[in-house]
Amino acid sequence: MAVVGFDGATKRHGITVNSFTSVSLEPPLVLVSIARSTRAHDELAGRPFTVNVLGAEQVALALHFAGKPGLASDEEPLWVEGPTAPRLTRPLAYFECTPWAAYDGGDHTLYLGEVLDFGYRSGDALAFQGGRFTALREDQLGVDDLL
Ligand SMILES: Cc1cc2nc3c(=O)[nH]c(=O)nc-3n(C[C@H](O)[C@H](O)[C@H](O)COP(=O)(O)O)c2cc1C
Repeated sequence: MAVVGFDGATKRHGITVNSFTSVSLEPPLVLVSIARSTRAHDELAGRPFTVNVLGAEQVALALHFAGKPGLASDEEPLWVEGPTAPRLTRPLAYFECTPWAAYDGGDHTLYLGEVLDFGYRSGDALAFQGGRFTALREDQLGVDDLL
């Protein structure tokens, strides 16, 4: 699970997505698929964005940025200013992206971003499978084996 963050014309957007995937290594490209029905859809065109991969304990953030009650009213989601776009304060991983291309995806648009920077911390990942949130254990992610 991830939250796409960016500054639109008049407001900051955060949108929960399950449709985050890697596309290319050279250049490094990732994509998110954004529904045309969302407020974020038109605003994201041509704008830099971050992809914030959520930790297993961040279900409240996933719900909040899906437009559902999740965060306590006194608990505002915290953004930090990145060089290209805002990112969440403590995601499991983040990718800073500059817009690369956008493709028609039916009632969604596939937004590709070129990764300018990334970071990650240790921890379990939040996933959404079979209609429910679940955790991907860090020792099953195999990150250390890949890097
Ligand atoms: C588990 C989960 C996965 C989601 N994945 C996507 C996605 O990949 N793309 C998308 O456009 N919306 C996705 N959504 C829905 C958006 O998060 C939701 O429509 C959001 O409130 C739109 O915000 P906006 O209209 O303010 O831009 C998902 C929601 C949930 C709960």
